[in-house]
Amino acid sequence: MAKTIQAALLGAGTVGGGVYRLLERRKGEMPDKIGAELVISKVLVRDATKPRAGIPAEKLTERFEDILNDPDISIVIELMGGIDPAKQYIEAALAAGKHVVTANKDLLAEHGFALARTAAERGLDLRFEASVAGGIPILTPLMTCLEGNDITEVMGIVNGTTNFILTGMANEGMDFADALKMAQELGYAEADPTADVEGLDAARKVAILASLAFHSKVTFSDVPVEGITKIRAKDISYAKEMGYVIKLIGIARNTDGEIEVGVSPMMLPKAHPLASVNGSFNAVFVHGDALDDAMFQGRGAGELPTASAVLGDLIAVCRDMLANCSGRIRMNPYKGLPLQARGNAAHRFFLRLKVEDRPGILASVAGVLGNNGVGISQVIQKQRTEEVAEIVVITDRVATRHMEDALAIFRSMSVIRSISSVLRVYSGQ
Ligand SMILES: NC(=O)c1ccc[n+]([C@@H]2O[C@H](COP(=O)([O-])OP(=O)(O)OC[C@H]3O[C@@H](n4cnc5c(N)ncnc54)[C@H](OP(=O)(O)O)[C@@H]3O)[C@@H](O)[C@H]2O)c1
Repeated sequence: MAKTIQAALLGAGTVGGGVYRLLERRKGEMPDKIGAELVISKVLVRDATKPRAGIPAEKLTERFEDILNDPDISIVIELMGGIDPAKQYIEAALAAGKHVVTANKDLLAEHGFALARTAAERGLDLRFEASVAGGIPILTPLMTCLEGNDITEVMGIVNGTTNFILTGMANEGMDFADALKMAQELGYAEADPTADVEGLDAARKVAILASLAFHSKVTFSDVPVEGITKIRAKDISYAKEMGYVIKLIGIARNTDGEIEVGVSPMMLPKAHPLASVNGSFNAVFVHGDALDDAMFQGRGAGELPTASAVLGDLIAVCRDMLANCSGRIRMNPYKGLPLQARGNAAHRFFLRLKVEDRPGILASVAGVLGNNGVGISQVIQKQRTEEVAEIVVITDRVATRHMEDALAIFRSMSVIRSISSVLRVYSGQ
């Protein structure tokens, strides 16, 4: 008789329910895959009276203690989300000697290293593949297959809602509000879309990616964030005209031993592999000194894609338990690299300005940029009405602080009616 490993789920929502059902599909293979039977014996929910498709009612509980105090449960799978009480439950599970699998990006982006240290001190596994880009394997590759590299850049489309909206805007010529409405009607955006469209969800994932790629502590609050709410159909059409695609990009770079992180809309050259990742798909692009470039692409959310990552983690935990090598892979901030000062991050910029339509204005704009050390790479001037023209500029690569100095001067110039858009343009490292 094969040994049986028992696990418990905290949460039976989209992902928790998916994990339960996926394990049901695979359970007959577990003795061959891991050398033991694997069963989910208890499931914590807020409301145990609510029926849960495929999960027997007798496994449901509303009391975490039923799981914590059950000595036969050796793995806790946290799929509730949020910081509290998920953090307390995970800490309690680790203190009780139970391994943990979670998909909780909110928690990992704030307390990942502390939890990882606790798990390592107790020789336990803490795995969290599903917390970034759902079903796409990216965190385990960073912690295992890519460990031979010095990773210098990790950037990605790590939020499906915003990618769906931006793809709709690019393909249908829609403005942001209409594309958001369509995404909500089709179930790709929540009724309150703030965390997605303001870039907060992506920023949590960037903090986790940067922490793992650079072996340094980066938390959610370290990541400057700009969402997609200010992108207009006009920006998308200028981008097209100039050979670019606009995507919400999370970026993490190690430049000369300093870490740059950020989430913002970015113009990518059409030939960049991320430029053709459309709809609700996610992708993460990695550059390592030995690997060169690689891209990981797929479904970044949803019941079964996310359950795929969670079940993969669960199987890995079982294998470690049976081989007596738990706790061997962990988040380790041994490099301790500092964050780069925000103004020093170098990018190219796209500017869209509404200006008075008089001779000499383009020269004044170029003069302000030049005086602040900002070179011009491309420029388009279009007349909109009798008095107002639109100037669109793509700059050379420049430190953000120089661009900000130039923008401050533009704001004070009466001939410049408005600064309609300022976007980063991808330019490598
Ligand atoms: N959805 C995705 O596609 C996706 C993708 C990647 C990562 N994730 C992450 O996966 C986690 C779960 O997401 P989800 O979409 O599955 O959430 P969800 O559908 O809202 O499910 C949450 C579940 O947790 C239970 N729960 C919440 N708070 C609880 C508490 N205090 N005590 C007991 N049970 C509690 C809920 O119980 P009731 O059902 O009784 O309310 C529900 O079953 C989150 O960390 C999320 O960020 C989700």
